[in-house]
Amino acid sequence: MKNKITVSAPGKLMLFGEHAVVYNRPCLVTALDQRMFATVQKLDAHDFILDAPDVNVVSYKKQLKTLGRGDIPKGAQFVEFGCQNFFKKYKVRGGIYIKTKAQFFPKYGFGSSSASTVCLIKALFHLFGLAFSQKDIFDISYKTVLDIQKKGSGFDIASAVYGGILYFVTGGKVIQPLKIDRLPLVVGYSGRKADTAVLMRQVSEKAAKYPNVIDGIYMQIEVIVELAKKALLKKDWERLGELMSINQGYLESLGVGTDMLSAMIYASRNAGAYGAKLSGAGGGDCMIAICSPIYKKNVVAAIEKSGGTVISCNFNAQGVRIEL
Ligand code: PMV
Repeated sequence: MKNKITVSAPGKLMLFGEHAVVYNRPCLVTALDQRMFATVQKLDAHDFILDAPDVNVVSYKKQLKTLGRGDIPKGAQFVEFGCQNFFKKYKVRGGIYIKTKAQFFPKYGFGSSSASTVCLIKALFHLFGLAFSQKDIFDISYKTVLDIQKKGSGFDIASAVYGGILYFVTGGKVIQPLKIDRLPLVVGYSGRKADTAVLMRQVSEKAAKYPNVIDGIYMQIEVIVELAKKALLKKDWERLGELMSINQGYLESLGVGTDMLSAMIYASRNAGAYGAKLSGAGGGDCMIAICSPIYKKNVVAAIEKSGGTVISCNFNAQGVRIEL
């Protein structure tokens, strides 16, 4: 059995259904060809050592029996709790060294924490020679997210595990891969990192104040997701774009838009995109626009002119895999 392994998992972008998916509704998510890598090695001493330089964690070391205790740097939380959950559930022993490295800027909101958790769990299953399924990786990684954030749908974990484009319902109740070979999407980064937990809390406060209104919005978002799924499968980009713009209206109603995201979204629509919306929790991170190849150059230029950074990436990437 190997005692060292490198695993990679894709980043993700929410296409439709954010926020509503936290409350038992579906969403659509795509995996990105920009990946997170984790090299995981078994150690003789019962230590946990983590190097995650992208998130300023260097030579972070503690004893296995103290996992989950004390002050844990933000950048170490997911891997540390993931490791703790794995050891607890599978009753294995042995020290672990982990080094993570992302191909993308962690501030983009491509799901670096969930992708590194998924890499770690797959690596641990291999290193300890245990039989496992993709759902086993999902379950333990999702538990880790809930331990840390208390709330979250798990869509990002599913995307890192399964890859491709998924139709996903809260907690993995449905994880359905969709056969879609291309997606004419442009991605723009707003320059500001969003705090998903804070935005989820703001939305839940709004829901407490206006329960019927917000539930009505979630219901409409669900209808949009179902229509978008059909449009995606038919490659009806015009309809998909229109649905994006309608979804964006509801996200604005939830209060998660920003001036910058709106500027980029309007600029891309005015430059010929079929439609555009923010992607993820809102409050920053990225927007996405769907457009025909004829207008792509104009849309890219318009997003950059409004102050955003266009990120070139491919969609529908492979899920978690062993690299070497
Ligand atoms: O901020 P992101 O890209 O991780 O997206 C969060 C999406 C939410 O629906 C708000 C939360 C979730 O867990 O589904």
